[in-house]
Amino acid sequence: MDCFENKVAIVTGGASGIGRALCIELSRRGAAAVVVADVNAEGVRAVAAANRCAQAMRVDVSRQEDVRALVDETVSRHGRLDLMINNAGIAICGEVRDLTLAHWQRVLDVNLWGVIYGTTAAYRVMVEQGCGHIVNVASLDGLAPMPLSAPYTAAKHAVVGLSTALRIEGAALGVKVSVACPGTVQTNILNTATFVGIKRQEAIAEMRSGFKMADPADCARAILRGVERNRAIIVDTWLNRLFWRLYRLSPSLYIALMQTGVEHMRPLREESINTLEETI
Ligand SMILES: NC(=O)c1ccc[n+]([C@@H]2O[C@H](COP(=O)([O-])OP(=O)(O)OC[C@H]3O[C@@H](n4cnc5c(N)ncnc54)[C@H](O)[C@@H]3O)[C@@H](O)[C@H]2O)c1
Repeated sequence: MDCFENKVAIVTGGASGIGRALCIELSRRGAAAVVVADVNAEGVRAVAAANRCAQAMRVDVSRQEDVRALVDETVSRHGRLDLMINNAGIAICGEVRDLTLAHWQRVLDVNLWGVIYGTTAAYRVMVEQGCGHIVNVASLDGLAPMPLSAPYTAAKHAVVGLSTALRIEGAALGVKVSVACPGTVQTNILNTATFVGIKRQEAIAEMRSGFKMADPADCARAILRGVERNRAIIVDTWLNRLFWRLYRLSPSLYIALMQTGVEHMRPLREESINTLEETI
């Protein structure tokens, strides 16, 4: 029997990219109910309808009351919660000297507080059930630093920390916790990202040429394989595992490589910087 058969799952950020691919894969593998949640109401309805998902909910993960309602409504409708995938996320790219505190706030609100709200709401239910699996989608940037994305890197490192710490606490209570750390994946995240003080189109083109982008369906399958095996940290490809290993074996070599990358991007810096209000 497939490990996801008859399971009740929530996927946040399910309207696009990795979240959408996770919803498709869970439905295909016989989940009893996949609840798709996203701030994009139209997108979430389309994904749910196309994949016979149980429910679509418009949820802003940076609002605790939205996330509470998502978990409570799922449990009252379906009787339990087996799998909580906190996947919703955003990107803001730029040098720290060009970012305002509002940029930091926005990234942390969605990418860290969104995960904290989802994790704590699901954990409460799962501890009571005596079972369940929480999967937080961080990034390779949560394992090794990514310059020009310091707030994103900070949020993702925090998500790795909270997930690995909770995994230890939850084990004896029957709750499993995994953190997924994909490398670059071909999704909408760069198209919707805020670029601060960097020429947007040129920066996107550089990023796309510098990294091999994985297919979201492959990434979703790798995440679910890791969940099935109850891995603590799930890195989606062998190349990304090698990248992570390089950072652990030789941080100085990794940092030198990243510094070269920053110097390569510096000519794309713009003098007139955007403000959060203009770009979000
Ligand atoms: N694409 C990559 O290269 C990559 C790599 C590593 C990790 N990730 C992580 O994977 C996750 C999914 O990203 P993706 O690449 O599929 O991007 P995506 O932009 O295709 O999808 C992200 C989804 O999250 C939703 N979302 C954004 N803010 C939200 C909010 N406040 N509340 C609810 N939903 C919200 C968006 O509407 C969108 O549907 C993110 O956490 C991202 O950081 C992405």
